[in-house]
Amino acid sequence: ALERTLSIIKPDAVAKNVVGEIYTRFEKAGLKVVAAKMKHLSKQEAEGFYAVHRERPFFAALVEFMISGPVMVQVLQGEGAVLKNRELMGATNPKDAAPGTIRADFADSIDANAVHGSDSLENAAIEIAYFFPATDVYPR
Ligand code: CMP
Repeated sequence: ALERTLSIIKPDAVAKNVVGEIYTRFEKAGLKVVAAKMKHLSKQEAEGFYAVHRERPFFAALVEFMISGPVMVQVLQGEGAVLKNRELMGATNPKDAAPGTIRADFADSIDANAVHGSDSLENAAIEIAYFFPATDVYPR
């Protein structure tokens, strides 16, 4: 089915200047960018976005990393977009990421792992709404 998912290019990948290379991977896989913005998240915004991880031991480090520089936030649309984006990203830990995936090619560590992608259709809707009012998403 035609789906939308939320993608974030994290501060490490923005700093490496690979936003365009990552967008090219989305586009070559048939995913369309239907909303996008660069944003330097506040601590409150990062904590709110990752609220499901609040009790995890890595939460504080995750938030500090996510506010260390600007991120690119985008909505991707396409057939099976949630799973397709997760396949393009590869495993959370770049050490486990399959060759040719975004994390294998651009990530340095489980924290500085280049990209975030929604893990389910339900979470995609929540995460998209967190960053984009419906009027800022352009189905095409
Ligand atoms: P992301 O997909 O953005 O969702 C939560 C992030 O927490 C994850 O990517 C990782 O960058 C980070 N993280 C750090 N340690 C862990 C861990 N042990 N398990 C899962 N995620 C972790």
